[in-house]
Amino acid sequence: MTAFTVALQDGKAVSCAAGKSVLEACLAAGLPMPYNCRSGECAECRAVLLSGSVEESPGADPAVFTEADRRKGRILTCLCAPTSDIALEIVLRDGASAPRIERLSATVNRVERVSASVVQVALDCPREIAYRAGQYFEWVVPGIAPNRYFSAANPPGGTELVFDVRLYPGGAIGDRVRSALSPGDPLEIAGPYGHFGFTANDHRPAICVAGGTGLAPIKAMVADALAGKSGRRIRLLYGARRQEDLYDIALLDGWAARSADFGYAIALSEEPDGSAWDGPRGTVTGLLADTVFDGFGAEAFLCGPPPMIDAAVPILEAIGVDPDDIHADRFSPAKV
Ligand SMILES: Cc1cc2nc3c(=O)[nH]c(=O)nc-3n(C[C@H](O)[C@H](O)[C@H](O)COP(=O)(O)OP(=O)(O)OC[C@H]3O[C@@H](n4cnc5c(N)ncnc54)[C@H](O)[C@@H]3O)c2cc1C
Ligand code: FES
Repeated sequence: MTAFTVALQDGKAVSCAAGKSVLEACLAAGLPMPYNCRSGECAECRAVLLSGSVEESPGADPAVFTEADRRKGRILTCLCAPTSDIALEIVLRDGASAPRIERLSATVNRVERVSASVVQVALDCPREIAYRAGQYFEWVVPGIAPNRYFSAANPPGGTELVFDVRLYPGGAIGDRVRSALSPGDPLEIAGPYGHFGFTANDHRPAICVAGGTGLAPIKAMVADALAGKSGRRIRLLYGARRQEDLYDIALLDGWAARSADFGYAIALSEEPDGSAWDGPRGTVTGLLADTVFDGFGAEAFLCGPPPMIDAAVPILEAIGVDPDDIHADRFSPAKV
């Protein structure tokens, strides 16, 4: 099979099979690449093509990667496959502690409908999986392509992996989970992927904004931080459409009761008028604008639908959060 050489600064070089993305080849070689979504949505994998040629697959979000970027010789390594040997300029991450990406066969041990729109799936892995709270895994399900991504909803430290799966009308995974996934079934996963999550030993206040199942990685991060007694103050704003879509509220209440470091509030955007809900109504970004007034020195962690993230960023910047301290995990649909 044809393979090309991808040369990075500092003399690092990896071999990339024809048709494979630069990012996949570099991750497989263990390089600490910057990236998150692996699908053209975040631009965190951006690099400068110094020499050689690549073919770009469709899917780059023009909101984050533009024609001007291309004219400047920039590429998204997750979408580009080399068509010759290439040389790249890219700032690698500190890779000392990046967990190894692996593919493994797990066993389903729980499938539970936890709200009108969310099913929680717990997997038992053959051994403890090294990952960081906030990372995601690829589900490799026969007959469903491309592979779908789901974030671990529990912190690392055991053989169990929990996922919160949102049910979309016509969703291939959602349908499979709802109708055909049972305890004892095998499920192939690959990962962990991404760099979303709290940085170890960072004690700055954290503003977390979660939309829908965007709560999943945030739960893992909060559980990890509270268990480690990080002392980090965490304020979570959680948005859902209706009361019937909320889940894991008892877990959030338990954290808030046990730790002065954690507090949360909920906004419902489509709760019917006249219902018993007496909390905030409207979008979670509206709740952010109405309730959080000072972000100086804080970090923000946003997870959920891209429009929610795009709406939250300017609000956070306006209250003083440094743009470099705004971290986002965009739950984009798979590019079917
Ligand atoms: C890094 C990352 C982590 C993710 N983690 C999670 C997670 O923990 N939990 C979770 O529920 N989802 C998560 N997602 C989103 C999830 O991967 C997609 O929603 C996926 O497409 C769902 O697959 P499906 O087969 O159920 O629906 P599909 O068959 O892919 O889609 C069915 C229909 O629903 C629409 N749709 C699907 N997903 C979305 C969406 N996110 N927003 C709006 N419309 C959509 C599609 O456009 C299509 O019309 C994550 C996405 C990324 C990129
Ligand atoms: S755009 Fe390439 S990893 Fe997100």
